[in-house]
Amino acid sequence: MRNVTIENVTDLVIGSLGENGEITDRNRQILSALVRHLHDFCKEVNLQHHEFLGACDFLARAGHVCDDKRQEFILLGDILGVEVLVDMLTNRVGGAESESTILGPFYRENPPVLPKGASTVQKHFDDEESVYFEGHVRDADGSPISGVIIDVWEDAPNGLYENHDPDQPDYNLRGRFITDDNGHYAFRAVRPVPYPIPDNETAGELLRAMGHHPNRPGHMHFILSREGFRPLVSQVFDGSSAWLDDDSVFAVKQSLVAEFKPAGDDLDTDLHVEFDFTLKREAVAMAAE
Ligand code: BEZ
Ligand code: FE
Repeated sequence: MRNVTIENVTDLVIGSLGENGEITDRNRQILSALVRHLHDFCKEVNLQHHEFLGACDFLARAGHVCDDKRQEFILLGDILGVEVLVDMLTNRVGGAESESTILGPFYRENPPVLPKGASTVQKHFDDEESVYFEGHVRDADGSPISGVIIDVWEDAPNGLYENHDPDQPDYNLRGRFITDDNGHYAFRAVRPVPYPIPDNETAGELLRAMGHHPNRPGHMHFILSREGFRPLVSQVFDGSSAWLDDDSVFAVKQSLVAEFKPAGDDLDTDLHVEFDFTLKREAVAMAAE
């Protein structure tokens, strides 16, 4: 007969895995580690029963916040730095390839396909700063990659993504561009401004419990994809933005910070950003994993 104690409960639970049915090796690995870390956590903080019930209530309320527009658990994972960690574990950088960072909740599939150099702006704001964004996409050897599909999206100068703002046209500030024979991409957009992640409901409770603000630095989102290469989900940050040092979701990496320079006379925009990407060949990516 089992006799559970503080000392043996962790080994008892781990030892019970697979006792009454099949368990995969991966599930055994994950569940063993989960139980070990959870038990160690409870012991380290001497978790009390009312706190356990509070955590259950918090998670239940987080579940109720989820709908087709808001995935509260991803948001909680972002605030705790879990999503950025999992992204780095999934897309380990081992060479010259560009760094990834989190996707965020505001991506929309199938943005309008636009010709090189076109603008994603469908609605103008008084305080907007126009920007010409361009660069090259290359492989690790420096050869240009043509035909790379590049999805971009950003918030408007009012800090809102179009799908969260009834006053913006559908797909405003979103577009899909393709690199030319030289691996070159270019588009016109506006300077992305800092904005707060949703900070009501349980995400807000967690931010306040951590003593954090909800703000993110200005950034342009990118997804680059082409057959034969590992897809890259990333963001390019405005090097002069506020909150680069305390992004509420820990997504900033030095290699993804770009200078938004005043544009030269040859351009019709206020600002000019040059940012190159390096993609990893799929075969190389798979061999490294
Ligand atoms: C974003 O960059 O769009 C984002 C990322 C994490 C949480 C909220 C927003
Ligand atoms: Fe964003």
